[in-house]
Order: sequence, then C-alpha cells, then structure tokens
Amino acid sequence: MSAWRGLLREFPDLLPSVPDASVVTLLEGNTPLIPAPALAGRIAPGLEVYLKFEGMNPTGSFKDRGMTVAVSRAHASGAKVVLCASTGNTSASAAAYAARAGLRCAVVIPDGQIALGKLAQAMVHGARVLAVRGNFDRALELVRELGEEGAAVVVNSINPDRIEGQKTIAFEIVRQLGGRVPDVHALPVGNAGNITATWKGYLERSARDGGGTPRMMGFQAEGAAPIVRGARVLEPKTLATAIKIGNPASWAGALDARDRSRGLIDMVSDDEIVAAYRALADLEGVFVEPASAAGVAGLLKLGPTGALEGARTAVCTLTGHGLKDPERAVQVSPKVETVGADVAELRRALLG
Ligand code: F0G
Repeated sequence: MSAWRGLLREFPDLLPSVPDASVVTLLEGNTPLIPAPALAGRIAPGLEVYLKFEGMNPTGSFKDRGMTVAVSRAHASGAKVVLCASTGNTSASAAAYAARAGLRCAVVIPDGQIALGKLAQAMVHGARVLAVRGNFDRALELVRELGEEGAAVVVNSINPDRIEGQKTIAFEIVRQLGGRVPDVHALPVGNAGNITATWKGYLERSARDGGGTPRMMGFQAEGAAPIVRGARVLEPKTLATAIKIGNPASWAGALDARDRSRGLIDMVSDDEIVAAYRALADLEGVFVEPASAAGVAGLLKLGPTGALEGARTAVCTLTGHGLKDPERAVQVSPKVETVGADVAELRRALLG
C-alpha cells in the first residue's frame, strides 16, 4: 500500500483544485473505523456499531479535513491572514495549518470557555489568541464582520472549502466498510457544519457509486439545542464546550440532512454525554472529548425506544481526542491514590 498523501491528493476529483505548491497538508484523514461490540450490545441487540475516530487527525479533531482545503486555498489566493471564531478545535487546526503555510492566524474564542488542550495548541503554533467577553455565537458574528471587510480569510465552516474537505469522511467510511453504506450515521451537532458536510459526502458518493445513504442522526446538548427547540438559545449551557452553540451557522444544512435522510436531530443531557464518554473509555478503550460522545449518547438513548429498529450498521463520528480536555477526564474519573514508596504498602493497596 502506498503512503497516505493527505485529502487534497487522495481525493482530487472531489475537492476544489489547488496548485500543488499551495497544498498545505499534515496528512489528515484516513482515520480508523473501530468496531465497538461492547457498546453495540448496550445500544440494540444485533446492531453493528463503528467509531470513526476523528481524534486521530493531526491536530486531534475532524476540523483538519476542512482546514487543509481552506488554508491551501487561502494560500493559493495570496492571502496573508486567516481568521476564525472557535470553541477550540477549529482554532487549534487553523493555527497548525497556518503555521505550516507561513500564514498569520488570528483566533477569537469565548473567554474562559475552551478546553485547555485546544488553547495550548493555538498558542504553541503562534496564533494571535483573542478571548472575547461573550459566547461563541457572538465571536462568530464579529469574525464574519471582519471577514466581510476583507481583513482576513475566514476559515470557519461558513467557508465552503471547509465543508468540501469535511465531506471526505463519508467516502472513507464506505470504503472502510468494504463498499457497504451504514444504515445510521450519528454525530454531535454544534455549529452544524459537520452534519451538513457528512451528508453532502454521502449524497455525492451515492450519486457516483450507488448504494444509498444513511439516516443522519445529529445530537445537540440539552442546554444548547436550538435546532431541536426550533429557536436560538441566547445563553447556551453544557459541559461539552465544543458544542456550546446557540445559533448554528449551518442550521439550514442540518435540517436538510435530517429531512432528506429521514433522520433526526435530538438532544442529550450532560449526564448522558458523560455516561457515553465514560462508556467509550471503559468499554472500548477510546478516549474522546465530551462533545464527541454526544452521538454515542444519542444512540444509547434511542436504542431502547426502538428508533433504531431495522438498522444493521451504525457509524458514530468521534469528533475530537480526549486529550483536548484533560481537566474533564480527571474530574469525572476515580481519584489518584497516593502511597508510600514501600513495597508492603503498595502490595496492600493493590491486593487489599
Ligand atoms: N465535536 C467537536 C469536538 C467540535 O469541536 C465541534 C465543533 C463539534 C463536535 C460540532 O461540529 O460545529 O460542525 O456541528 N467545534 C467548532 C470549533 C465549533 O470551533 O471548534 P459542528
């Protein structure tokens, strides 16, 4: 097998063209599709569940798929600065790709509301990090305004290049399933770019190769569920900070994916998110950030209701790596025990 060359070179027919000298890649994509038999047993008998672990991308989230396209195109256009608003992962990815491209990067984050690992990433790659006294939705409004003034290329998912890159996940999944299309695709929904992109990918794939499309099942956090409630949430609340969003930019795209796929968009509580987060770690050995567990939380919630009846295969996108948010992991896990540096004491502690 030849070495993976990154999305722009692996999927040239699907993506906007970029002159080779402007391709900015960290060899993103090609993430593992991990079978999850123990979790499947808790969701619905007979269902096969697979985890598309996007935390294995170079900066630890699915954002890299779109960022390689957006930053490469910005570079090709002669831009000097890229700009984004972010709950953390977009900023981490933008900072890394901009560094590699030799572009300046500015990120606007909600003050005090992004996980430590993500902040560290933006900082280490040399981005200008501006924390606004406001939430993500406000940060995105400000960034849009600057973008319209032409101050910088906005690399949020309102930039269509991001959606193009992110759609590649659908092509990878069907390839990894040996040409089978899953019956259900579950994922978290925040700003709704990812459900829009994943659905676009499945549609394009089916138009090319046939075989149909899955039902798209998106899950918002209960305290940040504008699409489920049918109205903006002015003060979104959830411990899953990545999806703490009250006015999704791709709202219409999410509704379209839901309706055309005969899917659904539902919500899960923070307790259900944490339970799914722990189940992924305990039962499957997969460490994700809290928001990434929302799709799994949704399937755990729907399984017993019969809503998944007839489905044979479900895929969940696990959007980001657990190391993004180490503080949450420590908070929800059993405490560290301290013992003396003594073999008898250690034996007692381990063997009781
Ligand atoms: N999961 C994670 C880990 C995310 O970082 C995000 C979004 C989502 C899910 C939701 O994806 O917005 O396309 O519906 N993070 C954005 C950011 C908002 O700024 O990093 P979406």
